[in-house]
Amino acid sequence: MAPVRTLVGLVEEKILESSFIRDEDERPKVAYNDFSNEIPIISLAGIDDVDGRRPEICKKIVDAFENWGIFQVVDHGVDIKLISEMTRLAKEFFALSSEEKLRFDMSGGKKGGFIVSSHLQGEAVRNWREIMTYFSYPIKQRDYSRWPNKPIGWRNVTEQYSEELMSLSCKLLQVLSEAMGLDKEAVTKACIEMDQKVVVNYYPKCPQPDLTLGLKRHTDPGTITLLLQDNVGGLQATRDNGNTWITVQPLEGAFVVNLGDHGHYLSNGRFKNADHQAVVNSNSSRLSIATFQNPAPEATVYPLKVREGEKPVLDEPMTFAEMYRKKMNRDLEMGMMKKLAKEIQFQELKKNAKVEAKRLDQILA
Ligand code: OGA
Ligand code: NI
Repeated sequence: MAPVRTLVGLVEEKILESSFIRDEDERPKVAYNDFSNEIPIISLAGIDDVDGRRPEICKKIVDAFENWGIFQVVDHGVDIKLISEMTRLAKEFFALSSEEKLRFDMSGGKKGGFIVSSHLQGEAVRNWREIMTYFSYPIKQRDYSRWPNKPIGWRNVTEQYSEELMSLSCKLLQVLSEAMGLDKEAVTKACIEMDQKVVVNYYPKCPQPDLTLGLKRHTDPGTITLLLQDNVGGLQATRDNGNTWITVQPLEGAFVVNLGDHGHYLSNGRFKNADHQAVVNSNSSRLSIATFQNPAPEATVYPLKVREGEKPVLDEPMTFAEMYRKKMNRDLEMGMMKKLAKEIQFQELKKNAKVEAKRLDQILA
């Protein structure tokens, strides 16, 4: 069966289409609205005042990255009107007809646009989401032909949004640099020139949410991610390798800040790369906007500082492009191995059933 190109028709079905059904061990363990307040909420109010709250705020951020790799940031300075415009327009986009959305179809390797599940080819199971991806930085590489011109005004709002999030991210990365005892700009310099990718996630209502995920478990590959989510809930985090999960309490106007693999390696593993996933539900659709701050593809991935008595977490330096490629290949291989293992198991069962049937035949003959 040809893969569906939007989720529009599937939302109304009673039964979930099979390509979205996950193995039992990957399915949600905790409800989308069973909220936890374990993830710290940190206010940035006063971070730039001389002799102000800076040291106290930095300490909270560092603690959060050491414990969880996640926190929620408030009083971050991003215009609240801009945030609500961005959300409103994004919702309007996903409400457009399939035909309109597919004008920006990114399947076949196009850089930026619309797709179901993810741009990765060869996924074993699909995610219950539609996405719209913008490659927003470096500015000179922007391809506006991949930025939707509907709803009117979204393009312009996305430009402003990506600029404000770039500057908030750089502020947070300064804190990380300082925490490692380095120059304020050490992390951004290690990125050479910061890339930014904005991914708008739309998770429609799902007929059988317990069998699937909106976005399977992962760590973000880049330096840092800023996630804006609506009040529905669905983002979940684990810090014991998937044994227990918590659902992050949605907080209006806040960004969830995640550390990615690059940030984790730069800190020589001191700061955690957040292990997370998104679950869906059958009551309401959900929108989230993830802004990924990544290093340039040619940037070197290697600890900026190895503390006394520690060993480097990486054997040798590699470029971010290599790191990314390895990660994606590993993910795809894991998926394929699982699929293959299931197929072999099925063949074995079939073989055993045949032997059994033959034996029965003989007994009954
Ligand atoms: C992501 C992500 C979580 C969410 O896009 O990488 O983790 O709640 N999203 O949408
Ligand atoms: Ni993520």
